[in-house]
Amino acid sequence: MKPLIAGNWKMNGLADAASEIEALIAKMDGSAPADRDVAVCPPATLLAGFAARYSDEAIQFGGQDCHAEASGAHTGDISAEMLADAGAAFVIVGHSERRADHGETDAAVRAKAEAALRAGLTPIICVGETQEERSTGRAFDVVRTQLAGSVPTSGPRSGPLADDDYVIAYEPVWAIGTGLTPTLEDIAEMHEDIRERTGAGARILYGGSVKPANAAEILRVRNVNGALVGGASLKANDFYAIVAAAAG
Ligand code: PGA
Repeated sequence: MKPLIAGNWKMNGLADAASEIEALIAKMDGSAPADRDVAVCPPATLLAGFAARYSDEAIQFGGQDCHAEASGAHTGDISAEMLADAGAAFVIVGHSERRADHGETDAAVRAKAEAALRAGLTPIICVGETQEERSTGRAFDVVRTQLAGSVPTSGPRSGPLADDDYVIAYEPVWAIGTGLTPTLEDIAEMHEDIRERTGAGARILYGGSVKPANAAEILRVRNVNGALVGGASLKANDFYAIVAAAAG
C-alpha cells in the first residue's frame, strides 16, 4: 500500500510559512516520489494560496476540519465543498483536539466524513484513546467504538464505501504533542485491531509524536500505512526526513 505522510499544522503558520513548503518541494526535488503520498494540512487561511501556488508540485493539501453541511448560516465554519474549491484533496476529521475542544461526537465526526466524501475529498478520520482509557484497559474498546461511530457506512454518491475513499489515523491522545509514543508492539496490536474493522486496502496512519528519530521504525510496523505528523511537520527539514523514512 502506498504510504501517506500527512502534516497537520494545527493553528500554526502565517503567510511566511510558505517558505517551509518551498523548502519541502526543493528537498523533494519537485517530483512526486511515486511510492508515497505527501500532504500538508495548513490553517484554512493558507490553504487556497498554497494549493494555487504549488498545485503542480508533489504535495497535496488538506483542511483540518469541515462542517457537515455544504453551506448555510454557520458563522465561522468551513464546508468540505469550500475546502475542495480551495484546492484541498484531504480533510482531517475527528482530531482529538476537536473532539475535546469542540465536543465533537462520533456522530458529528461521521457527518463530517460524509460531507468530505460528498465534496470529493478524502477524509482522514482520527481515533485514539486517552491515557486514562489506556491505563484502565479500555483502549481497544474506545477505538472500536470510535471507528464504528465515525466511519461512514456508504461511499460517495451513496455507493459502497471503497478502501481508498477514506484514511484512518490512530492517534493515542496521550502521545500527541508529548514526545511519548506507544511501543512498536502496542502500535502493531492496535493497527491490527483497526485493520480487522476496516477495509483491507484502507490506509491506517499512526499519529502522535512522530519525528525523524522514530519515523522509520514506526513506518515499518505492520498495518502502519503512513503517519499524521503535527509538530514535526512545521519545519521542512524534519517533515522531509519523515517523508524520506517512508520510502518503500
Ligand atoms: P504531534 O501531533 O505529531 O505534534 O504529536 C500529531 C497530531 O495531533 O496529528
